Amino acid sequence: MALPRISVLISGRGSNLGALLAAQRHGDLAGTITHVLSNRADAQGLALALAEGVATSIVDHKAYASRDAFERALSTEIDRGEPDLVVLAGFLRVLGADFVDHYAGRMINIHPSLLPAYAGLHTHRRVLDDGAREHGASVHFVTPDVDGGPIIVQGRVDIVPGDDEAALATRVLAVEHRILPQAVDLYCRRRLRIVDGRVQVLPAPAQ
Ligand code: GRF
Repeated sequence: MALPRISVLISGRGSNLGALLAAQRHGDLAGTITHVLSNRADAQGLALALAEGVATSIVDHKAYASRDAFERALSTEIDRGEPDLVVLAGFLRVLGADFVDHYAGRMINIHPSLLPAYAGLHTHRRVLDDGAREHGASVHFVTPDVDGGPIIVQGRVDIVPGDDEAALATRVLAVEHRILPQAVDLYCRRRLRIVDGRVQVLPAPAQ
C-alpha cells in the first residue's frame, strides 16, 4: 500500500523539516514527504527539500491583497500535492478558520512550549521571565483556536540556572526534532484518534 503523503509548510530555517527528512531517510517515518511549501522564497529550509528531491512551492503572502486570497492560493497549491497530512513546521503565518477547517484532523503544528502554557510568540523569553522550572515543546492538531488544538506529543526540558533564551531555545529545538517525527509517524500509522477534543494514541498493532 502507498505510504501516506506528507506536505510540510515552512517559513525559514527548516530544521524541523530537516528532522522529518532524516527520519524518513532512516526508515523511521511511515509516510513520504512529497511536497514542501514556503511563504518565503528565501526560506533556508527549501534547500533541504531540494537536496532530497522533494517538490517545493512558494506562495508568497506579500503577493496577495488579503489573507483570504493568500490562503486560497496556498490551499490550492497544497491540494495539488494531494497530501494525507499537512505539517506546519515553523510556518510563521496565523491561518484563518476556513483554511484550518479545510484541513481539520489532518494538519498538525509544532509549538515551542508545553501547551496549553505559553501559546503565541516569544515562548522562551516569557518562560524565563516567569521563573518557570520547566519548558518544552508540543505537537498538536491545528484548530481555529491558535496553538489550542488537541495535543499529540510533548517533550519537556528542565530550566537550569544561567539559562538564557538562546540556550533554552537550543535544548527545546532538540526536543522538537524528536517529537515532530514521532507525531507524524503515529499519524501515518493511523494511531491517533481525537475523542472529545483530546488525542488518544492507539497501541501499536501486535507484530
Ligand atoms: C521552531 O521553534 C518551531 O517550534 C516554531 O518555529 C521554529 C521553526 O524552526 N514554530 P525551524 O524552521 O524548524 O528550524
